[in-house]
Amino acid sequence: MATSYLATSALPYANGPIHMGHLVEYIQTDIWVRFKKMMGESALHMCADDAHGTPIMLSAKARGMTPEELIKDIHHQHESDLRAFGVDFDDYYTTHSEENKVLASDIYLKAKEKGAIYTKVIEQAYCNSCAMFLPDRFIKGTCPKCGEADQYGDNCERCSGSYATKDLVTPYCVSCKEAPITKESEHHFFAVSKYEETIKTWLDTIKVTDAIKNKLDEWFKDGLRDWDISRDAPYFGFEIPGEENKFFYVWLDAPVGYIATTQHYCEKNGLNVNDIWKDGDTEIHHFIGKDILYFHTLFWPAMLDVSGYKLPSKVNVHGFLTIGGKKMSKSRGTFITARTYLDHLSPEYLRYYYASKLTGGIDDIDFSFEDFVNKVNADIVNKVVNIGSRLGAILAKKCGGKLTSPNEEGVELLNSIRRDIKSADTAYDTLNTHEAMRVIISLAERVNKYVDEQEPWAKVKVSQDEAAAICTTGLNALLMLSVYLSPVLPQLTDGVFNFLNCENYSRADIETTIEDHPINPYVHLAQRVKLEDAQKIQN
Ligand code: MSP
Ligand code: ZN
Repeated sequence: MATSYLATSALPYANGPIHMGHLVEYIQTDIWVRFKKMMGESALHMCADDAHGTPIMLSAKARGMTPEELIKDIHHQHESDLRAFGVDFDDYYTTHSEENKVLASDIYLKAKEKGAIYTKVIEQAYCNSCAMFLPDRFIKGTCPKCGEADQYGDNCERCSGSYATKDLVTPYCVSCKEAPITKESEHHFFAVSKYEETIKTWLDTIKVTDAIKNKLDEWFKDGLRDWDISRDAPYFGFEIPGEENKFFYVWLDAPVGYIATTQHYCEKNGLNVNDIWKDGDTEIHHFIGKDILYFHTLFWPAMLDVSGYKLPSKVNVHGFLTIGGKKMSKSRGTFITARTYLDHLSPEYLRYYYASKLTGGIDDIDFSFEDFVNKVNADIVNKVVNIGSRLGAILAKKCGGKLTSPNEEGVELLNSIRRDIKSADTAYDTLNTHEAMRVIISLAERVNKYVDEQEPWAKVKVSQDEAAAICTTGLNALLMLSVYLSPVLPQLTDGVFNFLNCENYSRADIETTIEDHPINPYVHLAQRVKLEDAQKIQN
């Protein structure tokens, strides 16, 4: 089968751990890809570490390592953390690869050939003792508005005033504390403004949400700025072909990493990357946070267009995670890494929590400890797992451990679920997993109501057959709910399929009821979470 969808998540920087904020995106993408597969379509998920740039170079130096050593270590950590959350990448590569170097250089040379690259001398802050140009983040000084010391070059934490880095009073280099000087250097620019019409036409085809449309309109109104794509040595990245001591700015080769990773995957699987990125009808869907919209909707399509690639079919944008209503913060103990979370809680619970919060829009989503504990316990443990544990026990202990046939009310219930559960399809497809979870959990409530009314625990004392029919209904309902929950809770629902001896049960099977079918003994599927345990992830 031809690949129908290629999904990408943004490539995390290789200088820090995966945290709860990142996970919003990787989990959202993974759920969508699993949903597509659930619908019988083929979908790939590509990601990689974003390995270049000044912060990575300096962070390696601070740790007494080479950048290559640092990015290797981090790559291993990132991939294992993400996979521990059930994020099932088809390939997890790095932007520091030979493939990426060739592809990025090729795109640059095509752009140059088409006259989209020009050079211009610019002035920049330079640190003599570090012998390097300083990006804004590496300069601090006194706020020109309120006089607060040690502020970054764009805005003040105390007075929230914003200003340009050059206006800082007594600026200093973050690495060595010396005062920077201003120095000239020739930079390479990508003439993004030339591609305004191409970009606008493309944006009309990809159906962005209104919030995104407004943002983009603002940018167009201000006029597109050409893009400075070069950095001077020392820099950790790819050297620009034909230039000396000039490197591609990290954001030039970072998105090319999407293609390079696909190529890496294709080579291992006997496929041709151009059948995905240049020809064919595979749709490319990017998943990103709202902070990197500019790169993905303005620069990236221009780069793709100029070098003969097809343009993405969709750019999905999510908001930021806050913890207890506030930005994640080290000093408040709410900068929570994926690893710390895994030390205390089940990854599936976070997947469910994020799914229940995400609507497909760019609103920020909040992690609240109370809300997390309540949702997991009330929805997953009390409503879904409860069906299996109650009915599994009766069927195993008193009715011979075999599904029989549903009773009359049971047939009606199962048909109503078959009919109503499909509204989760569109919800999943449009990333409104909040709505998908609402539909599924309300159906779980319907099943529990049926079981409560039918009282199999009482009926079993009178008629094993009647009790078995009720259990058969409830457990068939659980199978359908599990198929629809499988994109979000792959591990838990695998447990259900094993328990019900239906390992290959899929969405197509919900049309038929499983009857006369032995099941396995019930093994506990999910534990309640306690608030004090959840709070252990804060430190
Ligand atoms: N390296 C770039 C992306 C290059 S893509 C060609 C980058 N890296 S990042 O590590 O800072 O972020 C990776 C993704 O995680 C981004 O889409 C970003 O929006 C997302 N998130 C980072 N922190 C986040 C939250 N606190 N909340 C939600 N998403 C967040 O940007
Ligand atoms: Zn310095």
